[in-house]
Amino acid sequence: MDKRPIGVFDSGLGGLTAVRQLMDQLPGEDIIYFGDTSRVPYGGRSQETVLKYTRQDINFLLQFDIKAIVIACNTADTAAGAQVQREYDLPICGAIRPTAKKAAMVTKNNRIGVIGTNATIRGRAYDGIIREINPRAQVRSIACPLLVPLVENFRTRPGDLVVEQVVREYLQPLKDWGCDTLVLGCTHYPLLGDVIGAFMGPEVTLVNSGKEAACQLAETLKRADMLSGATSGGTYKYYVSDTTEGFSQMASAFLEKPVEELVGKIDIERY
Ligand code: DGL
Repeated sequence: MDKRPIGVFDSGLGGLTAVRQLMDQLPGEDIIYFGDTSRVPYGGRSQETVLKYTRQDINFLLQFDIKAIVIACNTADTAAGAQVQREYDLPICGAIRPTAKKAAMVTKNNRIGVIGTNATIRGRAYDGIIREINPRAQVRSIACPLLVPLVENFRTRPGDLVVEQVVREYLQPLKDWGCDTLVLGCTHYPLLGDVIGAFMGPEVTLVNSGKEAACQLAETLKRADMLSGATSGGTYKYYVSDTTEGFSQMASAFLEKPVEELVGKIDIERY
């Protein structure tokens, strides 16, 4: 049993998709979240820069004597996951492997679409893992760099013409191709799940990388006997590297509980 908190980080709001899953699945766990809102998006940056940011994000979370980390960011996992798993001495779960595994298992027609940031798609992180698990699977990947800025600017609702237009432009080729499974290979995208789901149609399964990363962590903690032992009463604290207002508002709406009092601002460059 281990009562220490779990650390979760992302470049911004996206990692809340992992937090929501952890809250549901492990309601007795304490969680510390960091969203690097002063440097979002990570997706257009170089591998070296994202590795540097990832180390800083982890170093910040380590201030809190955490027991494990979720890299709730596909971009950071692609650029730095394997490296930081070697460098740090605690369980670190990334988003890509569990998400790829889920997609490889749920597809029926073996056509899997993957959407992600430029860095994630360029790194071809999903293709190899999906085919390793399901050699018959075909994978088509599309980078969608406009989606993260839309989410960070709270443009996520069905009926928002700008969002619907951007989603249509990116996803039309995957829809025409006939994939039955679409990997939301960026943790921001499940916040656009209603718009994406409505466009792709009910026959396409959306695989949520934030959720899969959280499930993977839950399994890892269970196997290592590192769960807190509590079944309720988990506490939550959120940190961002820029103003707290926008994040608080969006996080409260997404998590369906008020977080305003629980959000603090830090200087990530110090770590
Ligand atoms: N949410 C992140 C991901 O899963 C990062 C998006 C970004 O900062 O570009 O890739």
